[in-house]
Amino acid sequence: MPVINRCYLEIVGTGSPVVFLHGYPLNRSMWQEQISAIGDQHRVILVDLPGFGDAPPATADEIFTVSQIADEVVKSLHDCGIDQNAIFVGLSMGGYVAFEIWKRHRQWVKGLVLTNTKALADTPSAAEHRKKVAALALEQGTQAAVAPMFEKLLASSSQQSNLLTEWLQQTMASVHPNSIAMAMHAMAARDDFTSQLSHIEVPTLVIAGRDDSIVPVDVMQAMAQGIPNATFHVVENSAHLTPIEQPGVFNQLLLDYVKTV
Ligand code: MLT
Repeated sequence: MPVINRCYLEIVGTGSPVVFLHGYPLNRSMWQEQISAIGDQHRVILVDLPGFGDAPPATADEIFTVSQIADEVVKSLHDCGIDQNAIFVGLSMGGYVAFEIWKRHRQWVKGLVLTNTKALADTPSAAEHRKKVAALALEQGTQAAVAPMFEKLLASSSQQSNLLTEWLQQTMASVHPNSIAMAMHAMAARDDFTSQLSHIEVPTLVIAGRDDSIVPVDVMQAMAQGIPNATFHVVENSAHLTPIEQPGVFNQLLLDYVKTV
């Protein structure tokens, strides 16, 4: 599978494209359970965003904005011969990228699935905190920067799964410190999308995890209410990684949604 531009794309199946955008600090392997659910009817495109997974790591002091990341995704899709309208599925940071793809490349977006993500920009203190995490990654390494986040990612029931916790620890630890810093600065500087929500005209599925403390249910509900053509679901026994923690429920919502788009 080729590295395309700054992203790495894994493409499975044929049919109308469904593009999956992972959260921070993860990679495309977070969507394994979704391949089996929709890969027989759709062209599933799993993206490693710049700096993550098999995409080349960020170089020292490299700066990306979320809108540049969105442009890289679209360029990579185009270079792979995918230029049809696609459904974009974004988790958290992947959702921020999906918003930018909708804003900058609207003709590409047939539908949006926004999971565990928000339209709000960072508060000044949250942005400041990210800059500290970026500096920590560069000074002390990835583990020091990502460890405090670990507890918040999974609901207590999900933390019982050794398979899941080991995968998560390894995936997070594998990210290059430059990429951690790059993503932190990109997210800190991202735009607020709240005022854009009422202009999103494509069918949108919004999925929250009941125990998600990173993007709480009320924040996601308010976002869904702002999008004219959105449906909103809360998944029980899930924190911030709903597609991995509750793949059965998530996949059923996804399957029901893609049939209608
Ligand atoms: C993510 O899961 O991508 C992050 O929690 C996003 C963020 O830190 O805002």
